[in-house]
Amino acid sequence: MATERTLSIIKPDAVAKNAIGEIISRFEKAGLKVVAAKMLHLSEEQAGGFYAEHKERPFFKDLVGFMTSGPVVVQVLEGDDAIAKNRDLMGATNPKEAAPGTIRADFAETIDANAVHGSDSPASAEREVAYFFSADEICPR
Ligand code: PPS
Repeated sequence: MATERTLSIIKPDAVAKNAIGEIISRFEKAGLKVVAAKMLHLSEEQAGGFYAEHKERPFFKDLVGFMTSGPVVVQVLEGDDAIAKNRDLMGATNPKEAAPGTIRADFAETIDANAVHGSDSPASAEREVAYFFSADEICPR
């Protein structure tokens, strides 16, 4: 099993619900380590750049509006199969389809405010981690 890094974002809806600790606790209990973290209130430019691959999709404006609506917590998670493990913990993009016990099933109600983001591949993890963190902000342990 490969040790990987993945980018996780606790989105504005979950921050507003005071669920930061409960969500990070799930990552830690599953064996993922937080090796970098910060709270940010994203600008339109930051959110738009992060989701640039979805620029042409009909929900892009709503997505950027939501992601700039309040603070988020961005983290780098490290561990065996961290990318897939985080996606399993998150559950399906649409909380209505998310398996019981997943973060989205427990903390999200709608597809446009779905509690968490996680990188979906090694290539996106590399880009997304570098989007928010410089090398000296990551603390391997
Ligand atoms: S995927 O797997 O990347 O193709 O997922 P996808 O369903 O295309 O969604 C990509 C991100 O867009 C968000 N999304 C939406 N936001 C607002 N409104 C609507 N209708 C909507 N549909 C999808 C979705 O939560 C994904 O965000 P991230 O942060 O990548 O999980």
